[in-house]
Amino acid sequence: MKEKILTALRESDGYVSGQELCQKLGVSRTAVWKAINSLKEAGYEIEAVTNRGYRICSAPDVLSREELISIQKTKWIGQELYYYSSLDSTNNKAKELGDNGSISGTVVVADQQTAGRGRRGRSWETPLGDAIAVTIMLKPEMNPGNASMLTLVAALAVSKAIEEVTGEIAGIKWPNDLIMDSRKVCGILTEMSAQFDYINHIVIGIGINVHTKEFPEELKEIATSIYKATGQTVRRADLIERILEWFENYYEIFMKTEDLSQLVREYNSLLVNKGRTVRVLDPKEPFEGKAMGITERGELIVDTWESRRLVSSGEVSVRGLHGYTE
Ligand code: BTN
Repeated sequence: MKEKILTALRESDGYVSGQELCQKLGVSRTAVWKAINSLKEAGYEIEAVTNRGYRICSAPDVLSREELISIQKTKWIGQELYYYSSLDSTNNKAKELGDNGSISGTVVVADQQTAGRGRRGRSWETPLGDAIAVTIMLKPEMNPGNASMLTLVAALAVSKAIEEVTGEIAGIKWPNDLIMDSRKVCGILTEMSAQFDYINHIVIGIGINVHTKEFPEELKEIATSIYKATGQTVRRADLIERILEWFENYYEIFMKTEDLSQLVREYNSLLVNKGRTVRVLDPKEPFEGKAMGITERGELIVDTWESRRLVSSGEVSVRGLHGYTE
């Protein structure tokens, strides 16, 4: 009911009368009044004027199911949406939902993670109220061998969303770290449950540092937040909404060809490694070369002095020579 009231208030330019809300929702005036009060308690500024009705003046940085649903513009991503104030890991929950029959496009959001996971077995911090932890669960009918490219699709979507919300560019460090101020602002962990030729589900987990003001000493040089990089306090729900919308759009483009042929130019224009010397940390044989961009299959093209090499994501990690990206 709260989400319907929020939607109705947002859809209207001016005031919405109590009676209109009662009719729309099929509930009593008291029920509307109670729901409005509970929204106010959550931090929404809602003005009530006699004979005119209610008007939403400002919406704080609230993360809740009703907030996310009331601003949702996607066609199918997030039709099933779960919000938790605290969770071990949104990827874990999304996998569980995928195993138990949830539909493709199911979204899990948490305000805090107690056991957030990063790539290569690392942990990932999502402190309460400061960050975004969102996972999209998909059940695509496609060749499992093409699935790793989805992580690049997600990076592109997050970059676009950050740019739209802050007006500042977030570059991509291949394959899927988002970079602002030469530091990592977002990481993506994609995991797949599949058989030889069939995908049960894929979960794409996105972690963004949003309001974080200070990082621990060991992360200071490599991590940043949207606040630190731009000085802006963005609404996390707005950013999530934009991510889901961009992802839906790029995912549909990707699925037409099951490769990045239609997205490669856009991705390369955001690639912070492009034209830079990178060190490819191949466990068998590390090497250095100049990163030239990605292929239509999402491999990083690295020119060494003797040959052109294609590096697949998942196999190796790439570093700048003088720091995280440079
Ligand atoms: C990385 O190591 O760069 C990837 C970090 C991915 C973190 C996100 S937060 C939401 C989702 N849930 C998790 O447990 N991990 C991912």
